[in-house]
Amino acid sequence: MARTTLTRTVLAAVSAAALFALGACSSDAGTQTGGGGETQAADDGVITLGFSQVGAESGWRAANTKSIQDTLTAENGFDLKFSDAQQKQENQIRAIRSYIAQQVDVIAFSPVVETGWDAVLQEAKDAGIPVILTDRAVDSSDETLYESFIGSDFVLEGEMAGQWAAEQYDGEGYQAVELQGTTGAAPAIDRKEGFESAIAGSDIEIIDSQTGNFTRAEGKTVMEGFLNAHDDIDLVFAHNDDMGLGAIEAIEAAGMTPGEDIKIITIDAVKDGMQALADGKINYIVECNPLLGPDLADITKKVLAGEEVEKRIVVKDEAFDQAAAKEALPTREY
Ligand code: AHR
Repeated sequence: MARTTLTRTVLAAVSAAALFALGACSSDAGTQTGGGGETQAADDGVITLGFSQVGAESGWRAANTKSIQDTLTAENGFDLKFSDAQQKQENQIRAIRSYIAQQVDVIAFSPVVETGWDAVLQEAKDAGIPVILTDRAVDSSDETLYESFIGSDFVLEGEMAGQWAAEQYDGEGYQAVELQGTTGAAPAIDRKEGFESAIAGSDIEIIDSQTGNFTRAEGKTVMEGFLNAHDDIDLVFAHNDDMGLGAIEAIEAAGMTPGEDIKIITIDAVKDGMQALADGKINYIVECNPLLGPDLADITKKVLAGEEVEKRIVVKDEAFDQAAAKEALPTREY
């Protein structure tokens, strides 16, 4: 269905030099590629969508990628071009420029960090290609640079985690450590803000806070550092399950019992996290729903049909204590 406008044709010629390969991390399920590497999108009703994913840093991300790839299929009328940015903004910008040069119908992406997108989004706008944000927001004063943002309310997630901590542990003088997500990423900024505001009236004190980059390995390493630096840690707030699971390994290696000697609260509620919660190693998890594929497909079709779409689509999240995790696990989708 590629809507080849004059602007886009000219821009494609100008930016032919930018049409370099996305490397081993990009995949293309179905689009025909000409001998010179340029894409020939057929005018056959198929929607060509270029998606730039953050990376493969967590169980949540794997579930999110699966949802997008399972939904934006040829059977559903899509030609999905998918690239993995390996948690690097420069890779995402390169991918978006490549999608512009290929004259895709729509670009969707989940921004690694919040800032620094205006220039490349303006290039997409100038080329007449609508952009849809999924999962994470961009920090831009120009809301015309994208059509819609589909994702959870990360501030609310942090608040839910902090409210539960305050309800359970206020009055105990708890010392907490925080495993932050990727520096500059919307969920790291917002979850921190939400958690801090929710515990503000309690006597829980955050004594240390560092990034674990949303990965299990870095969560473990940072937690080892916290345990070496502080004698009396009562609570871990991890911005995602994977970092919390890494912290569990560090706590166990230090001879302590996670969930008892040191309480743990995380965000995501993916299967591994929920299993650790049901096993008593995590105390509470706030969900972040990764199943964004169906909403992305729906909004894409509406945008291309010229329909009004909501600028912000908030995905609803639940929260689980240990009993709720045991109940939910058998039917958990991700
Ligand atoms: O942007 C969503 C966050 O990114 C998830 O909570 C985390 O697991 C992922 O890496």
